[in-house]
Amino acid sequence: MGAPVGSITRGTTGVNRLRRSDRWLVHHPLVRQVLHDASDPLVVDLGYGARPFTTFELAHRLRKVRHDVRVVGLEIDPARIAESEPGVSFMRGGFELAGLNPVLVRTFNVLRQYPEDAVSAAWRRMQDQLAPGGLIIEGTCDELGRRCAWILLDKTGPLTFTLAWDPFTTERPSDIAERLPKALIHRNVPGERIHDLLQSADRAWATCAPVSTFGPRARWRATLDLLAETGIPVQRYRRRMRDCVLTINWEWVAPAD
Ligand SMILES: C[S@@+](CC[C@H](N)C(=O)[O-])C[C@H]1O[C@@H](n2cnc3c(N)ncnc32)[C@H](O)[C@@H]1O
Repeated sequence: MGAPVGSITRGTTGVNRLRRSDRWLVHHPLVRQVLHDASDPLVVDLGYGARPFTTFELAHRLRKVRHDVRVVGLEIDPARIAESEPGVSFMRGGFELAGLNPVLVRTFNVLRQYPEDAVSAAWRRMQDQLAPGGLIIEGTCDELGRRCAWILLDKTGPLTFTLAWDPFTTERPSDIAERLPKALIHRNVPGERIHDLLQSADRAWATCAPVSTFGPRARWRATLDLLAETGIPVQRYRRRMRDCVLTINWEWVAPAD
């Protein structure tokens, strides 16, 4: 194996920072199916940072989907390799995934520190390593994990885009714009689909203001209904949600070029 692919970046992380994407993952039908069907339920957490909190948390939550899941935390910084425990181990590695073939890769707050034109090569490198049917979740969030955005990919490319935020500390959907993944953050300008989506979400959210007497979650459910009625095919979730979540197929946000 050659040198890990990528560069060492800031190691900022925090306890429970990635809870919203973990919650989404454990309920996602495709993720659940891929984990259930895998002969080797191997999951990689790429770039876990200065401390491995989020890797242990991911393992804990995914064990509820499949009890024998194995999680490997990979870090490009050799000084950050943590001590392994049963079911959760740590190694040095980069976008080549240290030669592993996982069914699921989670990489959060890693590509945001790279230039925009590095994203597609990094995605390709990880996609090439996936086990059959494998998935990647690549995203970004703020320091406390209150505002998050992520992309779900398979071997062929991005499938969906998701925004998730704390109902009580975020004023409007477009407040997440500063936390968009690298593939989209520079595209939040007129003429780009992500910009149109955020504008539409803000407008629908404003229209649903009267529903806020029932709380921000009820207002967000009404907002999703309104968006769907106006022809924007956002996913609607039947289960009760703690977070405000907007998921849509990738083609609704894909960059123009
Ligand atoms: C900001 S921390 C993110 C920590 C954690 N994922 C989180 O969201 O809280 C980014 C980490 O990714 C690591 N990193 C950057 N590029 C990487 C790569 N290509 N492969 C593995 N780790 C990488 C950095 O060394 C750093 O520790």
